Amino acid sequence: MNSHIYGIDFGTSNSVLSIFNETTHKIETTLSVPSILYFPDEYDPALPLKYFVGTAAIEQYIADGMKGRFMKSIKRVLPRTNFTETRIHNKSFTAAGLITLILKELKNKADAIVGYDCKKAILGRPVFFDDENTLNDSIAQKRLLQAANQAGLTEIRFQFEPIGAAFAYEKIISQKEKVLVADLGGGTTDFTFIELDPAKSLEKDRRKDILATGGIYIGGDSFDSAFMWEKGTPYFGRGVMYESMPGKLVDVPPSFFSNICSWEKMNFFNGLKVQNDLRQYYSYSKQNEKLKNLITLTENNLGYSIFQSIEKTKVDLSQLDTSLFEFNKFDIDIHNTITLEDYNKIINRDLSKIDQYLNTFLSKNNIKPEDIDSLFLTGGTSMVRAVKQLFNTKLPHVKVKSDDNFISVAKGLAYSGYLFQ
Ligand SMILES: Nc1ncnc2c1ncn2[C@@H]1O[C@H](COP(=O)(O)OP(=O)(O)OP(=O)(O)O)[C@@H](O)[C@H]1O
Ligand SMILES: [Mg+2]
Repeated sequence: MNSHIYGIDFGTSNSVLSIFNETTHKIETTLSVPSILYFPDEYDPALPLKYFVGTAAIEQYIADGMKGRFMKSIKRVLPRTNFTETRIHNKSFTAAGLITLILKELKNKADAIVGYDCKKAILGRPVFFDDENTLNDSIAQKRLLQAANQAGLTEIRFQFEPIGAAFAYEKIISQKEKVLVADLGGGTTDFTFIELDPAKSLEKDRRKDILATGGIYIGGDSFDSAFMWEKGTPYFGRGVMYESMPGKLVDVPPSFFSNICSWEKMNFFNGLKVQNDLRQYYSYSKQNEKLKNLITLTENNLGYSIFQSIEKTKVDLSQLDTSLFEFNKFDIDIHNTITLEDYNKIINRDLSKIDQYLNTFLSKNNIKPEDIDSLFLTGGTSMVRAVKQLFNTKLPHVKVKSDDNFISVAKGLAYSGYLFQ
């Protein structure tokens, strides 16, 4: 008999699906795709709209000279009520509609493995999609549910992502433990404090073991934005002055630079007025070279590409003490040595926020450091050295554990079949 459950972690950066076999109680395989969509500029209205998902989207976008609609971190739009739809050629897409395409990609691949159209899935969700507005949070979950339904997954349960991570960790321990799980991803940092017991892993109801959950809207994307502000924007004219009237020098508005700090906001520069303003600043700054870089960056859609360089610098610094921040496209020439110390300073504000949130989480839930037997760190951002350091300093007596940072949530979601009971 066919009987599988898909554990699906739709992430800001990566989306992962684990196939759980309900007969053998084992995970058969785990698939993953970057959460990226690309719609080429060229299209034929007589044909279905062409699009690419994941690695194929990145490859095609680059092959097409970075033209067309390239979408990353789509999870971020889920709670945004002001995002109703976006038009791509002759078709309108809601947030759910876009996410459907990513979920479908994963589902099709998984269905090909199990050999039938599996409709049953446990979907992960961050503890807060929006940590300030509960209405937006419920809208986000509804949209995600709709996306799953449209992708052909009709029997759905939701599970908090960090609880998923905890259940994955439960498979690698041999005795009862009270565990603090910290899942640091691209968009959010989520916590759960849970009592794990390998003997209980097949039990029907695990609700009472979950002692506390919480989260904050900070992740690897925020680190990359902070990096762009500190180390990138000076190459694009932050601090440059232009002559607003003869003899009167003023700064180019800072909004120009905050908008290039998250690559999706760079669309802001597609507006005609903005382009005109930018050209004026360029000319009234006596053709400042850095403002020319900004024009080049925005006119040639180099947003994704520069953020790739920023991410590479970050990933290097998870291993090395120095790295090069390099970007050479058109006339833009960035070549800057970044030390681990520089990097830690750049992300210090975000780290302090995580630190403060963790204090609140522990005190609000009456968790004393001595109550914690171990700390399970997961998610791509948990590889940042200052992040590890933060937890080591805060909970020096606690054993730190980890597993595969990119797939543990999906695996644990797939182990959450009790939600169907
Ligand atoms: N070696 C590394 N060192 C530091 N950061 C890394 C490394 N590898 C990946 N990252 C970062 O990890 C993040 C992606 O992690 P992950 O796949 O866990 O996120 P996600 O699940 O998609 O996001 P979320 O759970 O917030 O929705 C990105 O910000 C990426 O830049
Ligand atoms: Mg995640």
